[in-house]
Amino acid sequence: MENQKRDNWSSNIGFLMAAIGSAVGLGNIWGFPYKMGANGGFAFLVIYLFLAALIGLGIMVTEIALGRKTGKGVVGTYRELSSKFTWIGYVGLIVPVMILFFYTVLGAYCVEYMCLNLGDLGFNVVDMSGGDLFGSMLTNPFGGVIFTLIVLVLAYLIVRGGIKGGIEKFNKVGMPALAIMLVITVIRSLTLKGASAGLKFMFMPNFEPLKENFVGVVSVAAGQMFFSLSLAMGIMVTYGSYLSKKENIVKNSIIIVLSDTIIAIMAGLAVLPAAFALGGNDAAMAGPKLLFITLQDVFNSMGTIGPLFGTLFYLLVVLATITSIISLTEVAVTFYADNCHKKNKEPDRVKATAVVCIILFIGASIVAIDGLGSNGLWVPFQNSLGVVGSFNDCWLDFIDFIAEGLLMPFGALVTSIMVGWVIGPDKVREEVEINGTHKFSAYGFYKFCIRFFIPVAMIFILIGQIDSFLGLGIFG
Ligand code: PHE
Repeated sequence: MENQKRDNWSSNIGFLMAAIGSAVGLGNIWGFPYKMGANGGFAFLVIYLFLAALIGLGIMVTEIALGRKTGKGVVGTYRELSSKFTWIGYVGLIVPVMILFFYTVLGAYCVEYMCLNLGDLGFNVVDMSGGDLFGSMLTNPFGGVIFTLIVLVLAYLIVRGGIKGGIEKFNKVGMPALAIMLVITVIRSLTLKGASAGLKFMFMPNFEPLKENFVGVVSVAAGQMFFSLSLAMGIMVTYGSYLSKKENIVKNSIIIVLSDTIIAIMAGLAVLPAAFALGGNDAAMAGPKLLFITLQDVFNSMGTIGPLFGTLFYLLVVLATITSIISLTEVAVTFYADNCHKKNKEPDRVKATAVVCIILFIGASIVAIDGLGSNGLWVPFQNSLGVVGSFNDCWLDFIDFIAEGLLMPFGALVTSIMVGWVIGPDKVREEVEINGTHKFSAYGFYKFCIRFFIPVAMIFILIGQIDSFLGLGIFG
């Protein structure tokens, strides 16, 4: 069964582009800048970098190494390492599917905005405010479902082409294009009059939030880091399983973490100064509001050139989203392919991708129809806690809470215990050093992190995530 040929990245750059493509997404563009500004500015950045170095990097190395070691997707990898942990492989399979249920819908809204701005080029017909536009989009379930379908068809067309011929090819063009568009938007944003208010919001050190609720801030930073680096979702295991034994895992992991962070900061420079320059306040910078209301107002206020920047910007966001969506989709497709290999059958990738995308479409349709709770759809546990703004307001929040709030940190906790104490961190070292050319020089540090620091931190993060999603106020 092992002699069947598995696909591979054609080069290390191809792998890096795909991994960075997975990491860079909505988390960078709407999550990071706002969370940084609202949770201590520069002080938050320091905490984030600290967590990324101590936890994110360690888990990144672990996931890539384990995937490459077994040459299997997430379920196969955990099964092979220790059959007692197969179930955590299934968690790593379910989380990306759940995330996709809402992530594709958010991607669909971005496509809608891109089309609107594109249609507006030279005509300036969009005279609706960002708020009205978003409202009408949310309350149009049919439009939401159709655009979600478009996003999924795009993902299908890319993923069915395979690792080399689909995912790598798309990322190799998409990521450099994204970088160029990002630089253009940063320059535009920073040269607007009044841009400095955004810079101040983002970078000015503010220790108040830290004093008030230190564990809360750390937990926000940690949740952001996991999501942004695409960790604990089987992605890096899956992508790592296609990586050549020649490549340097530790160096690659550092490049991925650094690139993701730099792009998050750049995204902040692209959006916040513009939003503040055109009269936004702190409240207008949060979550979906920033992307779908505040920024559209920014483009509306730029005059005839506005739709051009609008199109460029939303195209950039669509690209970032698609490169993330295909990585999440690949987790399930690889799972299917591995199962075929196990049964000595040649996997039919096209069929597998189609099946995965159809399942995704069904789940995502619920989220699209729900329109962030705008359409009165029944939601599990809705308002049962009576906490306004907690996870149970809409389908997106509900799914996000289960996936990102609970399963992700839990999966990372169990993985660190498994690697640290059951199979042993030496297995990771063996894989990193496999061809004798790459020494794992920080192994002592890694061993300490994976055995002690990460499990303890993960317990706090798990409690912190539950706390912040449910609005319980355990930490302050
Ligand atoms: N990391 C991506 C982001 O920052 C999102 C993502 C999450 C992608 C999970 C894959 C897996 O938006």
